[in-house]
Amino acid sequence: MRVINPDHRLIAHKLTYLRDERTDSPTFRRLAEELMTLLAYEATREVRVEPFEIRTPVAPTTGIKLSNPKPLVVPILRAGLGMLEGMVRLLPSAEVGFLGMQRDEETLEAVTYANRLPDDLSGRQVYLLDPMLATGGSMADAVRYLAERGADDITCVCLLAAPEGISALEDSVAALDIPVTLVTGSIDERLNEVGYIVPGLGDAGDRLYGVV
Ligand code: URA
Repeated sequence: MRVINPDHRLIAHKLTYLRDERTDSPTFRRLAEELMTLLAYEATREVRVEPFEIRTPVAPTTGIKLSNPKPLVVPILRAGLGMLEGMVRLLPSAEVGFLGMQRDEETLEAVTYANRLPDDLSGRQVYLLDPMLATGGSMADAVRYLAERGADDITCVCLLAAPEGISALEDSVAALDIPVTLVTGSIDERLNEVGYIVPGLGDAGDRLYGVV
């Protein structure tokens, strides 16, 4: 698995305010979208394209357009929704699917409770969004699930990752025969005893949407 942690001051700047406990929900949502757009720039570096001919006002030339099938963006509910706008802003012709995965607070295992995806993902490049790669359980399950349906190139994007989550995801995808990339805004220190990323930013879903 390829791990990309872009070194950019704007990423570190936005992450600082996301981490700050004084940041309110509306500001947190805006920053999460903006950070996602910066990460999307890295994550889509190898998006599949094909050449096509255009004319400028001066001369003919060859440009590129996104190939078919179009990339699929899949936020993992619910916190992944906070990254969706920031992603499709850069990739407006992508299709969007949804995957509901929840952490069992006792076992810390991921459970699938909803999905809305095309049945056949053959030949698809998929961008999987989940802000916090903590134990790596939900992301690893989601990657396996998409690969079983035919996805053949998966890029996971998170705002923050714990080293434990990266190792778990690496171990889990090693058995798959497809390229998997992880793009993360930061690799934090560790997970604490209740599965939170340290220093992290707290519960991303609660900070985006409040406690419901
Ligand atoms: N999920 C979160 O929202 N925050 C963490 O720190 C870990 C998992």
